[in-house]
Amino acid sequence: MAETAVETEAREAAVEAALGKLDLEAKTRLLAGQDMWTLPAFPEIGLASLVMSDGPIGVRGVRWSADDPSVALPSPTALAASWDPELARRAGVLLAQEARRKGVHVLLAPTVNLHRSPLGGRHFEAYSEDPYLTGRIGTGYVTGVQSGGVGTTVKHFVANDAETDRFTVNNLVSERALRELYLAPFEAIVADAHPWGIMTAYNSVNGPTMTEHHRLVEEILRGEWGFDGFNVSDWTAARSTTGAIDGGLDVAMPGPGTVYGEALAQAVRDGRVEEAKVDAAVRNVLRLAARVGVLQGAEPVVPEPPAPVDGAALAREIARRSFVLVRNEGGALPLRPGTVALIGAAARDARVLGGGSATVFPAHVVSPLDGLTAALPEGTLRYAVGADPNTELAVAGKGFALRTVCHDTDGRVIGTANAPDGHVQWMGSDLPEGVTHEALHTVDLTGTFTPRETGTHTFGIKGLGAFTLTVDGTTHFDDVQRPVKDDPFLSFFGAPEPRAEVELTAGQPVEVSLRYVVDLPDDMPMKVITFSLCHAEPVRDPDELIAEAVETARGADTAVVVVATTERVESEGFDRTDLKLPGRQDDLVRAVAAANPNTVVVVNAGSPVELPWRDEVAAVLLSWFPGQEGGAALADVLTGAHEPGGRLPTTWGSLADAPVTQVVPENGELPYTEDVFIGYRAWERESRTPAYPFGHGLGYTDWTYESLQVTGTTVRVRLRNTGDRPGREVVQLYLAPAQPDPTRPARWLAGFAGVEAAPGERAEVTVELPRRAFEVWDEAAGTWSFVKGSYELQAGRSIADRRITAPITV
Ligand code: BGC
Repeated sequence: MAETAVETEAREAAVEAALGKLDLEAKTRLLAGQDMWTLPAFPEIGLASLVMSDGPIGVRGVRWSADDPSVALPSPTALAASWDPELARRAGVLLAQEARRKGVHVLLAPTVNLHRSPLGGRHFEAYSEDPYLTGRIGTGYVTGVQSGGVGTTVKHFVANDAETDRFTVNNLVSERALRELYLAPFEAIVADAHPWGIMTAYNSVNGPTMTEHHRLVEEILRGEWGFDGFNVSDWTAARSTTGAIDGGLDVAMPGPGTVYGEALAQAVRDGRVEEAKVDAAVRNVLRLAARVGVLQGAEPVVPEPPAPVDGAALAREIARRSFVLVRNEGGALPLRPGTVALIGAAARDARVLGGGSATVFPAHVVSPLDGLTAALPEGTLRYAVGADPNTELAVAGKGFALRTVCHDTDGRVIGTANAPDGHVQWMGSDLPEGVTHEALHTVDLTGTFTPRETGTHTFGIKGLGAFTLTVDGTTHFDDVQRPVKDDPFLSFFGAPEPRAEVELTAGQPVEVSLRYVVDLPDDMPMKVITFSLCHAEPVRDPDELIAEAVETARGADTAVVVVATTERVESEGFDRTDLKLPGRQDDLVRAVAAANPNTVVVVNAGSPVELPWRDEVAAVLLSWFPGQEGGAALADVLTGAHEPGGRLPTTWGSLADAPVTQVVPENGELPYTEDVFIGYRAWERESRTPAYPFGHGLGYTDWTYESLQVTGTTVRVRLRNTGDRPGREVVQLYLAPAQPDPTRPARWLAGFAGVEAAPGERAEVTVELPRRAFEVWDEAAGTWSFVKGSYELQAGRSIADRRITAPITV
């Protein structure tokens, strides 16, 4: 929501008044987290505590557990696949509603780093390999969230495009690649959506770490672009008091132990930091507080929350509009009437979101099996697991009914809480009602487990300390789990350890309990209780599972195989080492396709995976991490109630062909040697053909591009729906220099627009080409240079399927 000049002036006056009432100690305290997610309140100046939360597909809130559920939207890759900034805006409005419901003022999102390499572990959490598409989707998202009166932190500024050694890596990126690629989405969002916050990344860029990067933050972000929001560090990223404040970092998160607070006050007293710098940072925080309405005397930008949004309905709409139909031979989809064999572990236990800080806990998940059971006529659907890549212990979920019971040293119950799954995580003062860290001695996670399979079930424990695991009356473990010394991550959280193998019968409940004896060090800056009860289903012979699936598929009119990645493949904290589907899933698809020519494969993955069998199956539908309503949306699309609306926001191809695969630094450095050639820019330069090109995606109708008219930089495309169903087309415009220039890509995305039409109907889109589409960064001059001359404008359905062209001279 745009702020008027008068409102801005009034808010700035309130900010100055509040600033004037704070002494040095208070000011430096305001710049440091007081705990994991909040800044301290200063009631004496009418300032309440600012609350932040991840982001980006939902609002987790201040509790990292399933007992405070959130609407889970599809993954950011999915949102970008809609190629619809307006849909991204609507997602943002819903997230603002969720934030308000949970008392959150700032959403730690969106992630607008680029898909530099398909190996990037957080690929699913970013939008695209193209900076223009990323900027447009990010602009819609930020506009939506902020129109609900909630702030955003566009992240991670900048070049946080992989996970390996992310705290220490120094990414070496040319100024031109920074400007044309990595900074570009941030720049566009600052210009078009006016974000109230930015998050600076863990990594360094060309030397300085991003929390101390005066040039990129103070000179470019604030100076050149005019960003007036607050700059928060990524969690634990700030390492130097003077370096951070000099580099333009406003807030160091999380607390209570940070480089700001008392350390910053002391630096001012010692004359190492000018107080004016502290004031500038405090001003930015107070401005944020004023905007979101937690500073008395300042009118919030959005005084009344927007009209309520139905979260489940929106999650379902985004999902079906994000699914990308990359292959559909002989009109295999929509499903023909008849029987359906549904196959795959992920068809029953859908993977709806990616791992790490993007995790939220939805109140329910609609799996493909749930969705198709509801949509198809009774008796027409059969299910088989086929292959289960989840052989590892996972947090106890399906079939468990658990709660936590807290005791003091005398064994008295001092509090209880619901436990929607087997993961217990209490940070700081976030404890069950009536419980304090001082009194808490043991936590029992206790309840029942009703198996859905007969066989040997494995139970395990994740966490460090003393545990007692009891299943069905037998104690299987009563000992201490110790850290694995050489891995800092594992030494804090521990790895899941198998501790019991128990024979169980499907449908027969058993008692389960895990006792944890609390023993946290006294000097722990923030007390965190974290442990999990884990479980793995009986492991069946993989060949037998495939054979069973083949039998299920053989007689069916259609076989639908859902393949997926696992949490061990796509998550924050590490990069991928290959793009293969885990386990025996490739064998499963081939075997099913051999038994049933009408095999449809649904790929449940947030980022590209290799599909070596893709020409052996009838149809391939990419469903990303589809969010909580994914299975319902899948049924909408498979049955033909809706067409799949997505187009690829990123090139899908094999790792062997992928042009940019270096994500592991050497001697602490990661040179971006490919310079401006990432994604389709690189695939085209190398003349390599990917499995599916950027922009590709089939609907259920067909389109004829009839004319392309260019007047100045205004482009008009006329097209016609020549299929037999209504549909939506994403008209893509690529700009190609008339004379190939080896220093520039062969073509690049210069604009796009979505349009709907009924069968036989004509439609028209008008797109204004941005000036930036014609500019390159001139390294020598240190400025943008408008490249005059002749270009070809190409309109089409993907970067490889260009239907109509026109010359354009500027
Ligand atoms: C992630 C951020 C996230 C923060 C808080 C960090 O590890 O990089 O994206 O917002 O944690 O959870």
